[in-house]
Amino acid sequence: MASTAQLEVDPTLLIDSEYGSEISGYDTSTQSLASSVNQYILENGRRYHAYYGENKNMLPSDEIEQDRLDMLHEMFLLLLDRKLHMAPVENPQRILDMGTGTGIWAIDAANEYPEAEVVGVDLSPIQPTWVPPNCRFEVDDLEKEWTYKPNHFDFIFARCIAQAITDWPAVMKQAYRCTKPGGTIELWETGGILYSDDNSMKPDNETKIFYEHIAEAMAKTGRPAHIEGSNLVEYLENAGFVDVVVNKVKLPHGPWAKEKRLKQAGTMALIAFDTGFHSYGMAAFTRILGMSNEEADKLCYGGLNAVRNRANHTYTYLHIVYGRKPEESK
Ligand SMILES: C[S@@+](CC[C@H](N)C(=O)[O-])C[C@H]1O[C@@H](n2cnc3c(N)ncnc32)[C@H](O)[C@@H]1O
Repeated sequence: MASTAQLEVDPTLLIDSEYGSEISGYDTSTQSLASSVNQYILENGRRYHAYYGENKNMLPSDEIEQDRLDMLHEMFLLLLDRKLHMAPVENPQRILDMGTGTGIWAIDAANEYPEAEVVGVDLSPIQPTWVPPNCRFEVDDLEKEWTYKPNHFDFIFARCIAQAITDWPAVMKQAYRCTKPGGTIELWETGGILYSDDNSMKPDNETKIFYEHIAEAMAKTGRPAHIEGSNLVEYLENAGFVDVVVNKVKLPHGPWAKEKRLKQAGTMALIAFDTGFHSYGMAAFTRILGMSNEEADKLCYGGLNAVRNRANHTYTYLHIVYGRKPEESK
């Protein structure tokens, strides 16, 4: 997989950075506000699942967030040539999607593997009811004792759950116990550090400043915003998984990359960012860093405006790590 080579900028993209980002930016979409239900907390104009409580998971779970998660799913498919996973998985019979969100990955996996039973688990009951017959969802806390049988799943998958997990070793220990000998686990996490290959990201880049504040807030919760492939490798190997493979893929923020696949993925990322900065930022900045609503909002909009600016060619890494439970652990 092409990954860490310098990203080439599309020269046909007009750069008018001497103007403010409102002029030089990309067009954006608008989203509608969600309605509330009584087991949720309403805050910052967003709906958060009540179970999370203060500082547990600071992402909302409203319709705006559900749309964002579905857009990110499409972004990942565009980035990875529509692959749902990178590990070689053959004829899986039981698949688990940890922290399934809207369940979109689990539904696609159920369609791709019609012989398999796919289970998506999440704290939030935000999954659809019309799903393939071999797909079902469970509402549960991954950090509690798992009730699945030992050696049960051929394939366990998780994407973007880093900010949800406080005790990775404990969760990985349970994942190991519930993976079949010879079975596979695969973890995807987008890193929380922003890069640019052409120095277009200046020290005062407001997206960078946003990311730094997220890192500061998340560090205080014990769930660091930035996870490297090496962290995921350590979690898997310490749990007992072997033959661990690491992949690192650049994810451009915006349609500035020359290569079609990256341009499309970056475009989808930018659309998702429309609401993503506020999803990640508002609770983290107000609850943890003690900012006022206005301060937090300003930081989120600053990050969003800078990423919309065509002159900024920033990206993060997507880390994909997979491993296998040894056969002999039968
Ligand atoms: C960023 S979303 C990712 C969703 C999905 N994996 C995807 O890629 O579209 C993280 C999800 O983890 C869920 N989550 C957070 N803490 C959890 C926990 N302790 N147990 C189960 N799910 C959890 C959240 O409700 C949220 O849906």
